[in-house]
Amino acid sequence: MKCLVTGCNGLLGQKLMSCAPADVDLLGVDLQSESVVSGVDYQRTDLGEEQQVLAVVRRFRPDWILNAAAFTDVDGAEKNQPLCWRVNVTAVEHLVTACLQTGARMLHISTDYVFDGRNGPYDEQDPPNPLGYYGRSKWAGECVLQHSSLHAVIARTMVLYGLGRRVRPNFVTWLIEALARGQSVRIVTDQFGNTTLADELAEALWKMAALECRGLYHVAGSEIVDRYTFAVKVARIFDLDADQIQPIATADLGQQAPRPLKSGLLVDKAMNELGVRLSDVETGLRRLKEQFQTLSTAGYRSD
Ligand SMILES: NC(=O)c1ccc[n+]([C@@H]2O[C@H](COP(=O)([O-])OP(=O)(O)OC[C@H]3O[C@@H](n4cnc5c(N)ncnc54)[C@H](OP(=O)(O)O)[C@@H]3O)[C@@H](O)[C@H]2O)c1
Repeated sequence: MKCLVTGCNGLLGQKLMSCAPADVDLLGVDLQSESVVSGVDYQRTDLGEEQQVLAVVRRFRPDWILNAAAFTDVDGAEKNQPLCWRVNVTAVEHLVTACLQTGARMLHISTDYVFDGRNGPYDEQDPPNPLGYYGRSKWAGECVLQHSSLHAVIARTMVLYGLGRRVRPNFVTWLIEALARGQSVRIVTDQFGNTTLADELAEALWKMAALECRGLYHVAGSEIVDRYTFAVKVARIFDLDADQIQPIATADLGQQAPRPLKSGLLVDKAMNELGVRLSDVETGLRRLKEQFQTLSTAGYRSD
C-alpha cells in the first residue's frame, strides 16, 4: 500500500509516519524544507497550492492520502481567518480533486469543535453546530468530503497530546513544562471531553486504512473528564505539584474563540469496528510517561 501523509511534521503526522505498518510505502509532505522524522521520504508541499498538490499526488500515486495537515490554532483562527480557511477547507478541496483524478482514497481528521458543546457527548449522528471560526472551517472541510463521490473516511478526535519534535506545545506537554518550572496555571473546570494520546489515534487511523473504512468515526480516548481534573491527574502521574493548578471558569479566562463546554465524543463505533486500544485518562498518561522515561529531556521538548 502507498500512503501520502500530509502535515507529517505536526504532532499527529509524526506519529503516523513513525508507526506506519512496515509494508506501507510512505511519502510525507508538509510546509517545512525537511522532515522532522528521519529516514522517511519527504517532499515540501503547500497544500493551499492546487498545482503542488496535483503534482505530488500524480507522481506518487498513493492508495490513501492521510490528511493530518491543518490550521490548528483555535484562537489564532479568529484573527487569521483566510489562512485558516486555506488550510482547513481549500487544501481539502485540492486533495479531493487529486484523489478523484488518481483513484486515491482519503482519510481526513476533524474535531469535536464542530459541535456547540451544549449537550455532549456526541455520536456520529449528532448534528454539528460549530461556535468559532476554527470549528466552522473544520466542519466545512468535512462537508467537502461528504459532498464528493470519493471513498473517504473522517475521524473526529479531541484534546490530542503526545511527544513530538518541534511541534506546538499541546495541553499536556505545556502543563508539564509549566508545573516543572514552578509556574502557577489556571485550568478550566467547565470544559468536558475526551483526551487522546496521539500515538493511539495514529494506530487507529492506520487500522481504518487497512480495513478500508468509509464514512464518519469518532476516535478519541475512552474517558470524558473536565480539563481541571485532567490537569490534576497529569500532575499526579508526572510527580508534579497539583497545588500550582488553580480552577477557573471558561467565562473568566478570556479566550479569544468560544469553546464547546459540555463536549466529548462517543467512541463505541470505533472501538467495536476497529478493535483498537483507546485508553482512559490514567492509562494514556502512563503510556506517555513511559515515553518520557525513554527519551532524553531534549527529546520531548517542543523546540
Ligand atoms: N491538537 C488537537 O488537540 C486536536 C484536537 C482535535 C482535532 N485535531 C485535528 O487533528 C489533526 C492533526 O492535528 P495536530 O495537532 O497534529 O496538528 P499540528 O501539530 O498543528 O500539525 C499540522 C501540520 O500541518 C501543517 N500545515 C499547515 N498548513 C499547511 C499547508 N498549507 N500545507 C502543508 N502543511 C500544512 C503544519 O505546518 P506549520 O506548523 O508550519 O503550520 C503542521 O506541521 C488536525 O486535523 C486537527 O484539526 C487536533
